[in-house]
Amino acid sequence: GAGKTSTFKMLTGDVMVTGGNAYLKGFDVKNNIKQVQANMGYCPQFDALIDQMTGRETLTMYARLRGIPEDTIKEVVNTVIDSLMLRPHADKLAGQYSGGNKRKLSTAMALIGDPPFIMLDEPSSGMDPKARRNLWTVLSQVRASGRTLVLTSHSMEECDALCTRLAIMVNGRFMCLGSPQHLKNKFGQGYTLITQLGTLADGTTAPNQPVINYITSYFPGSKVFDDHQGYVHFQVPDATIKLADVFTIMEQTKENLHVDDYSVHQTTLEQIFLTFTRAQTIRDN
Ligand SMILES: Nc1ncnc2c1ncn2[C@@H]1O[C@H](COP(=O)(O)OP(=O)(O)OP(=O)(O)O)[C@@H](O)[C@H]1O
Ligand SMILES: [Mg+2]
Repeated sequence: GAGKTSTFKMLTGDVMVTGGNAYLKGFDVKNNIKQVQANMGYCPQFDALIDQMTGRETLTMYARLRGIPEDTIKEVVNTVIDSLMLRPHADKLAGQYSGGNKRKLSTAMALIGDPPFIMLDEPSSGMDPKARRNLWTVLSQVRASGRTLVLTSHSMEECDALCTRLAIMVNGRFMCLGSPQHLKNKFGQGYTLITQLGTLADGTTAPNQPVINYITSYFPGSKVFDDHQGYVHFQVPDATIKLADVFTIMEQTKENLHVDDYSVHQTTLEQIFLTFTRAQTIRDN
């Protein structure tokens, strides 16, 4: 509950703005919300579908509302149905759609009529991995066509795949803004080392302290970032350490320390996100 949906609701005119203002193409949300809305597509976090209408009927209605010429509506609706892979469901009632298909239909409603600015609040929630990747393809094409997409997501993988600029919001404020690579460079120096501890003869997970002692002694400055169910995540801050050395050191000792498996990678967006949101948990408590 950082305030993403609340921000979207203010920008779309869903709720009243009590402080500040926002502008789109010179129109502002306080005084010219109709003109703002005319330039904007919106997929809300919670689907606002009419259960008694089919997907095709819903999209046709939105196409009319968008002012698409009547003689091209059929084609426009078919195009968006196909791009979101909704053809098998186009003539079923929206109320009978699965959760993932409802999200596709809501996204289609936001995209229809090619508005220049499109806001999508967690568009891929509830979609299976294949549908999600298809959505990424569709959104990348929209982006490439010169339109602006603003989306929220809980999936850092999705942000990495789609975003040219990314912000992390905590307690209603942006903590950072930049390209995924910029944020990784700035906030995630060094490596992440993840070790997975094995099970001892008595069925318990091997203790984590020996591996923590070992890693911190070899790589000074390393911190335990996360420690869950036998998975210990280390942040190794020194980017000058060679990957080969990390592997050598781990191979030498993994049996002694009951490390079943380990991986080394560049700091991920997920970790950067967790670094920022720790502040939120502390404040909430
Ligand atoms: N009408 C309201 N009145 C008072 N507080 C509200 C109202 N709507 C939302 N909130 C609170 O505002 C905070 C931000 O909510 P919001 O839905 O914007 O978060 P979010 O970032 O979209 O979260 P999520 O990732 O779970 O969708 C939450 O603590 C929520 O409980
Ligand atoms: Mg939300």
